[in-house]
Amino acid sequence: ASALPVEDAVLTAPPHVPPAISRDHNARVVVHLETVEEIGTMADGVEYVYWSFGGTVPGSFIRVKEGDEIEFHLSNHPSSKMPHNIDLHAVTGPGGGAVSSFTAPGHTSTFAFQALNPGLYVYHCATAPVGMHIANGMYGLILVEPKGGLPKVDREYYVMQGDFYTKGKYGEAGLQPFDMEKAIEENADYVVFNGAVGSLTGENSLTAKVGETIRLYVGNGGPNLVSSFHVIGEIFDTVYIEGGDAKNHNVQTTLVPAGGSAIVDFKVQVPGNLIMVDHSIFRAFNKGALGMINVKGEEDKVVYSGKISEAIYQPEGSAIQSIEGEYQVAKAQNKEDKITFGKRIYNANCAACHQPNGEGIPQAFPPLAKSDYFNEDPIRGISAIVHGLEGPIKVNGESFNSVMPAMLLDDDEIANVLTFILNSWDNKGGEITVEQVQKVRK
Ligand code: HEM
Ligand code: CU
Repeated sequence: ASALPVEDAVLTAPPHVPPAISRDHNARVVVHLETVEEIGTMADGVEYVYWSFGGTVPGSFIRVKEGDEIEFHLSNHPSSKMPHNIDLHAVTGPGGGAVSSFTAPGHTSTFAFQALNPGLYVYHCATAPVGMHIANGMYGLILVEPKGGLPKVDREYYVMQGDFYTKGKYGEAGLQPFDMEKAIEENADYVVFNGAVGSLTGENSLTAKVGETIRLYVGNGGPNLVSSFHVIGEIFDTVYIEGGDAKNHNVQTTLVPAGGSAIVDFKVQVPGNLIMVDHSIFRAFNKGALGMINVKGEEDKVVYSGKISEAIYQPEGSAIQSIEGEYQVAKAQNKEDKITFGKRIYNANCAACHQPNGEGIPQAFPPLAKSDYFNEDPIRGISAIVHGLEGPIKVNGESFNSVMPAMLLDDDEIANVLTFILNSWDNKGGEITVEQVQKVRK
């Protein structure tokens, strides 16, 4: 038996991080973690059966100290369909614990290890098919603080990237099953931070105040893709490369391998939205790998001249390819459905330019709210989506002479998005039918 004092681990759900360890001695830290399989939201209207550690993707954040003994209890919820186990990269021993922790539904396994090496480590399920368990969300981070602790910062957050593979293309509504073929081809439909599109944007944005130092514990669960982690509008003052001891300074983009990590520290000097992305940039704007840090405080016009636009960076959605198969696609049954579905299509495909409130941006993107151009003849809207639109037009007295690309949406999606627009923002109401769309397409 151990001679160390025993304490229960503080576990946190992302984006939160347990408090720094204040004791200067080692302890026997008891961790209780449960694997669960449950339906969650991947994106607006898109559901997915996540498998997770502790009910969140990524799983609960674990924080211990170099030299601590960790007594690990892994429970598999009785409702699970699959056995699970855990491989912690912080473990020195066979399978990183996997061999000792294989757990059937309704059972608990216990094992112990000593945290010999400090660093930020990934943990994940290693039950076959391993790739599938990881692809469904079974990963998280364990921080082993060095003996002397890490330098103090004002705020710490937990951000972990993962790639997801669904039968349907990005944004296709309904309950989406895992697609093994796409996973093998490494052809991800979703690349996201903290398990879902939008988990770190809008109301879920991280927050900070001017003058504070921020530390992000960044992980990458994969299963496949390496992240080029970047924060738009910041420079990392310090990067603990790959989550280890080596420090680099003044870094723009740091690689986070699948099954690896990095710790990044930076001070925020000016207010605004900082945008976290995987700088493999289609992943950010078309597959979900986008998060925000909302910084409040006084402007410093020397460091940065001031606010120009807050809404430049928006997810753009995408239409990649469809796969034939016997899965169920949610289809609008009536006008109310069309408006509901259309709103999602709008947010994923149109809002980046026409803005979430339909007001557009002067001199660049015309408004769809109360647009006299669109309301006069909504068939023009079908044409703009199907064929694209360029050349001079006048909308509400303002001239535009720009290019809208044709959008890769199907007939249903176009009928839905335009019906949503017609019934939003004081537009004239009404409905666009699939037949009307087909006519324009010919
Ligand atoms: C024009 C709808 C996506 C850029 C228009 C118009 C409509 C429309 C109805 C006609 C003008 C008006 O009534 O204001 C949509 C819908 C979209 C979409 C429903 C999503 C399915 C986009 C995107 C961009 C964009 C993603 C930017 C990449 C423009 C531009 C014009 C325009 C620049 C003016 C073109 C010109 O000057 O001739 N759009 N749009 N639109 N849209 Fe979109
Ligand atoms: Cu598993």
